Amino acid sequence: MSPSAEPGLSRPARLMQVVGARPQFVKLAPVSRAIDAANAGGARIESFVVHTGQHYDPAMSGVFFAELGIPQADLDLGVGSGPHGRQTARMLEALEAAMVAQAPDLVLTYGDTNSTLAATLAASKLQLPLAHVEGGLRSFNRLMPEEANRLVADHLSDLLFAPTPAAMANLAAEGLGARARRVGDVMLDAMRAFAPAALERSRVLERLGLSPGGYLVATLHRAENTPAERLAGLLAALAAAGSPARPVVLPLHPRTAHVMKAAGLDLPGGGGLRAIEPLGYLDMIALTARARIVLTDSGGLQKEAFFLGRPCVTLRGETEWVETVTGGGNVVAGTDPGKIRDAVAGWDAALARATPDFTAAVGEAFGDGDASAKIVAEVLRFLAARNGA
Ligand code: UD1
Repeated sequence: MSPSAEPGLSRPARLMQVVGARPQFVKLAPVSRAIDAANAGGARIESFVVHTGQHYDPAMSGVFFAELGIPQADLDLGVGSGPHGRQTARMLEALEAAMVAQAPDLVLTYGDTNSTLAATLAASKLQLPLAHVEGGLRSFNRLMPEEANRLVADHLSDLLFAPTPAAMANLAAEGLGARARRVGDVMLDAMRAFAPAALERSRVLERLGLSPGGYLVATLHRAENTPAERLAGLLAALAAAGSPARPVVLPLHPRTAHVMKAAGLDLPGGGGLRAIEPLGYLDMIALTARARIVLTDSGGLQKEAFFLGRPCVTLRGETEWVETVTGGGNVVAGTDPGKIRDAVAGWDAALARATPDFTAAVGEAFGDGDASAKIVAEVLRFLAARNGA
């Protein structure tokens, strides 16, 4: 074996990373940095990044690569939007060809999107080793398309990187414990790496004429919340939670914007709710860090609020991130306007008493901000064992 090769390999280890949607770019960034750090320390890993093109607007994709310093994808499949079957099928076909051409030693997938599903199926059928970042998340709600994607990804992957104790327990309960490693959450790594720059450089508050603590921030995009009738109710509840003096600021996900346009839904009047264009990662972190309360149906934003010490109201019936609830930072309110109003009033009362501090609970649940380095080390160990080193 040459000194520059990975254990058991006579050449650098070839890793294919597959991403496609906004939250996956955020997760790819710290893992890419950890690969660079490992290589600087003498490892030899060649990373090949495939972007499926599931998200393609510059505001949903390009800005993340630029801000997070992720190198351009080596291959962009340009798949775009569409019904689940067609979108996933297009990815599957193109990913299979890419995997045959690249012959990676291992395929790394992220999260729970259709891009995760397609990469999992393609690699599994080609019998390529597979690792899943963010393994073990469960909502136990089979109506969510993401839940099916998670189940397939976890059951077909050889290595499962669990971010939290609950994720580890879910994997053990499904008989997947032996493949699971609790490494912590790569989104905490991203937060640690990028929050200082976001807080120093972002001018988003000035741009929007907001003052720290003088607004709430909300996001809405889940399939279950975007049918027109449900969405209209949620927008009205958000507008009621805000006021012209203390607005709810809503960076609009394209899915939500499309539904509003198609259904002729206008923003409720009264000045309580302000819709804005989707934000880049750094502006979103700065906006969240200084918000009084966060309201969201996003998994990532529930965690980011918790990391930043901001109280959260989850606009779904359940959450995969149960540690944000047991850690005292998140109230799962569902979509009932009365429950949303009560949850906001509850946080307002709590904030009047004390500034929340979730630091200890964040560490207990999500690790030390070194999940990416652990993932890279585990991948190398796995490949060494597989290659008989
Ligand atoms: C996807 C993921 C979800 C993740 C979310 C983050 C699945 C099943 N869902 O949902 O897990 O939390 O990304 O954002 O994979 N659109 C644009 N421009 C874009 C991207 C999307 O206009 O750049 C519009 C399209 O009209 C499309 C709609 O948004 O029909 C939904 O896009 P889709 O690819 O289904 O993903 P998300 O709803 O964002």
